[in-house]
Amino acid sequence: MQASVNDCRIVELDRHHSDRQGDLSVVENGKDVPFAVKRVYYLYDIPGGEERGGHAHKLLRQLIVAASGSFTVVLDDGREKRSITLNRPYQGLLVVPGIWRELIDFSSGAICLVLASEKYDEGDYIRDYDVFLMNKQL
Ligand code: TYD
Repeated sequence: MQASVNDCRIVELDRHHSDRQGDLSVVENGKDVPFAVKRVYYLYDIPGGEERGGHAHKLLRQLIVAASGSFTVVLDDGREKRSITLNRPYQGLLVVPGIWRELIDFSSGAICLVLASEKYDEGDYIRDYDVFLMNKQL
């Protein structure tokens, strides 16, 4: 079955609030994410107007969190596009494999935290949009 942008969804993370000491959110394998987290990385110091992403993954699943600030994730399954703005550290966007994504509109100081189901593997990337569309038609 071909992945759809509607297979991607917002996950509400555990949130521990204290009026005086701030907030804390938790992501636990098997509880808050439907995969075992094998890698964590984060994007930061992104200049205004810059875009990231611009690729799809063959197998990788990800939970994308705006740990600070905000940005918009544009999801594209080859038929439909869906834009989701992330601006709450206690929400994650679950992105399934086979979805082209662009990250745009980063606010100043934004931090994009990504929890990933696999270790880094360049072979898992589809970086050419035409190749992505071609794979969708197979
Ligand atoms: P890339 O995934 O293209 O970044 P983005 O989707 O944010 O635009 O990765 C940028 C560079 O960082 C690229 O040279 C590969 C490298 N990289 C790693 O070495 N390990 C990793 O886990 C990631 C995500 C990227």
